[in-house]
Amino acid sequence: MTDGQIGINLTRHIHEKQKQYPEATGELTGILNQLAFAAKIVSREVNKAGLVEILGLTGEKNIQGEQVMKLDVFANDVFLNILGKSGHFCVMASEEEEDVIHVPEGYKRGRYAIALDPLDGSSNIDVNVNIGTIFSIHRRVSDGDEGCERDIMQAGRKLVAAGYIVYGSSTMLVMSTGNGVHGFTLDPSVGEFLESHTNIRIPARGKTYSINEGNYPYWSIGIRKYIDHLKEKDKESGRPYSGRYIGSMVADMHRTLLKGGIFMYPADKKDPKKPHGKLRLLYECSPMAFLCEQAGGAASTGNGAVLDVEPTQLHQRVPFFAGSMEDVRLVEDYIRRYDDGD
Ligand code: AHG
Ligand code: MN
Ligand code: MN
Repeated sequence: MTDGQIGINLTRHIHEKQKQYPEATGELTGILNQLAFAAKIVSREVNKAGLVEILGLTGEKNIQGEQVMKLDVFANDVFLNILGKSGHFCVMASEEEEDVIHVPEGYKRGRYAIALDPLDGSSNIDVNVNIGTIFSIHRRVSDGDEGCERDIMQAGRKLVAAGYIVYGSSTMLVMSTGNGVHGFTLDPSVGEFLESHTNIRIPARGKTYSINEGNYPYWSIGIRKYIDHLKEKDKESGRPYSGRYIGSMVADMHRTLLKGGIFMYPADKKDPKKPHGKLRLLYECSPMAFLCEQAGGAASTGNGAVLDVEPTQLHQRVPFFAGSMEDVRLVEDYIRRYDDGD
C-alpha cells in the first residue's frame, strides 16, 4: 500500500495538525473549506477571464478611490455571499466595502470575524499576471446579536488564522492557523486543494528585494540608502541583490515566503492622502505578517512588528517590510539610523 501522505486535503490537514485548537477544529475546517469553495469559483472565472466579458473596468471607483475591475466585484460578491451564509462569521470586512458587512437576515451569526482583500493585484488582471485573495480571521470579541467593527479591528497578534489564494499557473491556498504555514494546490480534476507545501520556512536571509523603484524620489533617506546598499556587491555572495517586482502583493509575497528576500511598500511622499504607504493593515499587511512570522520570517512597519499595530480605522494603511528575518532587521536599522525623528 502506498504512503498515506498522498492526497491530504484541507480537512484532513486541519484534523491531523490542529490538536492545539480542539474547540475550533470543526469550525476552522468549515471556514477553510468555505474559503476553498469560494476560491474555486473565482479561480474558474480568472482562468477564463480572457474569454468572457469579465475583464476591464466597471467604470466605478471603490472606497479607496481606485478604479474597480469587474473581477474585483465578482470576487467580492462570491466571497461575501458564501462566507456570509456559512454560519461561521458574525461580521465581515472587505477592501471593496466602505463599512463592515453584516450576516444576511435568517443566517446564523458565528464566532469569528473575517477581513478580505477579495482580489489583490487588480492592475494585473488584464495582462494575465498572478492575482490573489487575502484573508484574516479573528475570534469574535463583541456580544449581542450582530457582530461589529470591534470584532474586525483587532491587532494581528490576535489572529486565529490568515492566508491567501494565488490564482496563477496553478491555484494555491497558503494559510496558517498558528501551527506553521502550509500550501495546498488545487487539483481541478478532483476539485480539491491538496497539500503541496508542508511547513513553509522563510530562509534567514534572501538574495532578492521587491519594491516599486518608481517611488524612489518619494522615499525617506533611510529607505533610499538601504536600497542603494542592496545594489552594492554583497560581501558574502560577491554580488548585489536581484530586483523582483510583480506588482501583486500576493505574488510578491508568495515568492518571498518560498525563496526569502524582502518585499517592501514603504511610506512615501507621493500622495499626501496616503502618508503611510499604499498597503492596508487589516486585509493585506496583518495576514501576510502573520504568515511571515509563522514561517520564521519577520514583518515590520519599519518601527515595529506589523502584528503589534492596534488598528484605528478599517482601511488604514501602514508601511510594510516583510520576508527574511535578517533582511527585515537591516532595513529597520537603516530607518533607525537615518529616519528616526522624521
Ligand atoms: P489591490 O489590487 O487589492 O488594490 O492591491 C494592489 C496592491 C498590491 O497588490 C501591490 O503590492 C501594490 O498594490 C502595487 O502597488 P504599486 O502599483 O503602487 O507598486
Ligand atoms: Mn490588495
Ligand atoms: Mn484588492
